[in-house]
Amino acid sequence: MQHVILVTGAGKGIGRAIAFAFAQAGRHNPDFDPLLVLCSRSITDLESISLECRAEGAITETVVCDLGRIEEARGLASHILDKYGTIDCLVNNAGVGRFKPLADITEEDFDFTMATNLKGTFFLTQALFKVMEKNRSGHIFFITSVAAGKAFKHSSVYCMSKFGQRGLVETVRLYARECNVRITDVMPGAVYTPMWGVVDDDFRSLMMMPEDIAHPIVQAYLQPGRTTVEEIVLRPTRGDIQDE
Ligand SMILES: NC(=O)c1ccc[n+]([C@@H]2O[C@H](COP(=O)([O-])OP(=O)(O)OC[C@H]3O[C@@H](n4cnc5c(N)ncnc54)[C@H](OP(=O)(O)O)[C@@H]3O)[C@@H](O)[C@H]2O)c1
Repeated sequence: MQHVILVTGAGKGIGRAIAFAFAQAGRHNPDFDPLLVLCSRSITDLESISLECRAEGAITETVVCDLGRIEEARGLASHILDKYGTIDCLVNNAGVGRFKPLADITEEDFDFTMATNLKGTFFLTQALFKVMEKNRSGHIFFITSVAAGKAFKHSSVYCMSKFGQRGLVETVRLYARECNVRITDVMPGAVYTPMWGVVDDDFRSLMMMPEDIAHPIVQAYLQPGRTTVEEIVLRPTRGDIQDE
């Protein structure tokens, strides 16, 4: 059966691993044909992950979109619905972070973070949830963070945005339970991705890898429709990395 799956921020890091894990699952499961819509702002990243997913047998489409621009987020939703007529799974993964001491955060840092993590996530979800509600089926994953429930000293605005996403998750869940839509809040600790910039080997050894997050997500999606994995919390075995 074909599943229309949108992965935002699919070009790098966790989103890239999620897209690839869905494609791999399609190769191993004759009843699961993923049609992956891969979105980010960088076409070269999207083209390379698209090729990797196609090599696993998945159908893919790449869409360059800046979710921090509301008209583009809404345009992405309309494009998917016009082209495929439906959406089965939305993975709200695209996110940004600027990590600095409180005193160094600028208004531009604030607006940049909130535009993608909160505004973009909200309006994309709003547009696609409407269709899932009507269909009485669908699954939305939110890749929030352990920083959605715990403060880190150099992450003030990032934490604000992630605590805010948590508010959205819990609100959407109230609607979703009434219409058979599944909601999963994915809260990873530190994962080795481009978001962290350059890190040395010792630091890297304290982190998880993107595929460690991707596989539980795909497993949650492939649960029987009667079952929702509501929360996935994944931490490095040695605990959270402190930022002080
Ligand atoms: N890495 C961690 O330790 C960690 C831990 C917990 C939660 N998370 C969360 O997991 C998610 C993915 O993080 P990551 O570490 O994989 O980050 P990453 O390596 O920086 O990748 C982020 C992806 O999102 C895309 N993106 C960013 N802003 C976008 C926008 N406005 N519109 C469309 N695409 C956008 C990026 O591509 P372009 O820049 O090309 O658009 C990129 O493909 C984020 O929500 C992050 O907060 C990460």
